[in-house]
Amino acid sequence: MVTGASQGIGQVIATRMAEEGAKVVLVARSKANLEETAKQIADKGGTCLILPTDITAESAVSQMVGDTLSAYGTIDILVNNSGVAGEMGPLEEISMDGWEDCFRVNVTGMFLCCKHVVPIMKESRAGRIVNISSITGKRPLVHRSPYAASKMAVLGLTRTLAFEVGEYGITVNTVCPGATEGPRIRKVIANEAQALGISLKDAEKNFTGPLNTLVEPEDTANMCIYLCSEEAAHMTGQDINVTGGLCWY
Ligand SMILES: NC(=O)c1ccc[n+]([C@@H]2O[C@H](COP(=O)([O-])OP(=O)(O)OC[C@H]3O[C@@H](n4cnc5c(N)ncnc54)[C@H](O)[C@@H]3O)[C@@H](O)[C@H]2O)c1
Repeated sequence: MVTGASQGIGQVIATRMAEEGAKVVLVARSKANLEETAKQIADKGGTCLILPTDITAESAVSQMVGDTLSAYGTIDILVNNSGVAGEMGPLEEISMDGWEDCFRVNVTGMFLCCKHVVPIMKESRAGRIVNISSITGKRPLVHRSPYAASKMAVLGLTRTLAFEVGEYGITVNTVCPGATEGPRIRKVIANEAQALGISLKDAEKNFTGPLNTLVEPEDTANMCIYLCSEEAAHMTGQDINVTGGLCWY
């Protein structure tokens, strides 16, 4: 089950999972966008199920899990990738709604997906949960306080859940992608340039590390594949940076 599978990083995670032989449940808000991911998977001979779901609504998440069980019988892997950028601006100008909307998707939605999937994994005494945070869960990003706080919350959720479910053979890890090539990051870089009064080129340098390059969605997808593989059986509660070396803690 991959949330936020309709575009961007989640779309690549879903297609990579299908390539590895998983039957993939594609979750996001828009059915039309999920159909594009489903087409990519079908073109490669993979199997998937589209479940348009707003992960901030507990009844919808419960229904999504029920529909998955009806179709596939169990859930082995949950990748919590859905996320929103949140309201941007100096903290004192962030609205209450902007703050709460960001937490509702990035933290509460993730909590709800874990809450409804964990009992199934406990019953199987196996499972892999991968939560997508961000380099901004590790280091500050000016004028993005709701996003930064929500992404750091993901680390607390991951570490605590890892201890709660470890005895059932379930691992829970976080992946922290760096600035990932695509339209979304281009907007972030433009905002950063404007907020700091610097050129786009200089703003981009704030998002690249020693490799001097943005991250590709495939980099994050490959880390998810690894964390769900047998090779990562003894890794849990970790937060792993996929940032081109920009973050090392
Ligand atoms: N793009 C980057 O540079 C970058 C960097 C670090 C971390 N991340 C994180 O990676 C994840 C994916 O990022 P992206 O850039 O591909 O995002 P994106 O904006 O391209 O896609 C976000 C996905 O989340 C889904 N989503 C949003 N709200 C939802 C809701 N209420 N219910 C269900 N689904 C919902 C959308 O439908 C969409 O499929 C996010 O968690 C993001 O914070 C992205």
